[in-house]
Amino acid sequence: MNNRVLNSSKENYEEEEELKLRPSTLCEYIGQEDIKRNLSIFINASNQREEALDHVLIYGPPGLGKTTLSHVIAKEKNANIRVASGPAIEKTGDLASILSMLEPGDVLFIDEIHRLPKVVEEVLYSAMEDFVISIVVGKDSSAHTIQIDLPPFTLIGATTRVGDVSAPLRDRFGIVFKLDYYGLEDIKKIVLRTAKVYGNEIELDAANELARRSRGTPRIANRLFRRVRDFATVTNSGKIDLNVTSHALNALKVDELGLDDVDIRYLKGIIERFKGGPVGIESIAAAIGEEEVTLEDVYEPYLLQQGLINRTPRGRIATEKAYKHLHIPYQTTLF
Ligand code: ADE
Repeated sequence: MNNRVLNSSKENYEEEEELKLRPSTLCEYIGQEDIKRNLSIFINASNQREEALDHVLIYGPPGLGKTTLSHVIAKEKNANIRVASGPAIEKTGDLASILSMLEPGDVLFIDEIHRLPKVVEEVLYSAMEDFVISIVVGKDSSAHTIQIDLPPFTLIGATTRVGDVSAPLRDRFGIVFKLDYYGLEDIKKIVLRTAKVYGNEIELDAANELARRSRGTPRIANRLFRRVRDFATVTNSGKIDLNVTSHALNALKVDELGLDDVDIRYLKGIIERFKGGPVGIESIAAAIGEEEVTLEDVYEPYLLQQGLINRTPRGRIATEKAYKHLHIPYQTTLF
């Protein structure tokens, strides 16, 4: 059985829950105000010209709403959305069959676009630029190239690693957005909206506490909301107040800054095993038994944003703030 099948039940549950919470229009979408303002102009202009929207690249840490925003764009364009993922498109033929099914104006969403194989990526260039693809059919002496015309469509590419998107591909996106961590007030609004969608009441100070510990990430806020709601159901007659929220988050080992067990092991790893750094990511990953890419894509962006680590050419360093947060006396490596 492959990994996808083994992983599917938990992932599907989370995905289905996220689907229930997904805003469908720009108006409903909370936060990312600059992006929404620009997007609204671009969508409006393309609608007035009765054109497909230019191709869009959305990047940023996981959980900030790249997929959600893509669905919102499709909805605002009144377009169908087809969903694909970079690593699942293994051959040029896979991409050709996806592209040849597109209808005029459709949105094609490719998640993890940085993981498209190079040969597939090259087919995408002409599809994006001229709405045409050339593919080789037949073998050996009967091999020949055929051209397929495509309808105008919008490619939305999403990635957590924009640095891994090749320059020729990146240059073919007319619109590029970086999603940033949400501010406290926006996450609080998202928590309140989630409570409303689920039909639960939540006290304002509880929503604030949950928001504070959700590391600026809607997906985490929504996941923690479901767990806090479980605690409230079992221990507090369903009432989501500050007390049960703090208790649940402590039980889940989510600390005051929203750091979880892996973040803490990462920081303690640098401090206790490598004298606070600088140390390479491979060494940290090996020391704490986590994958390098997971640390780079999922954990480090927030630790950097919080000023708990710095990245230098010689490696990662735990900052004074990290020592303070962990109640470890700060020592510089001057001596
Ligand atoms: N759920 C997840 N992200 C959201 C957002 N940005 N606005 C509203 N609801 C959301």
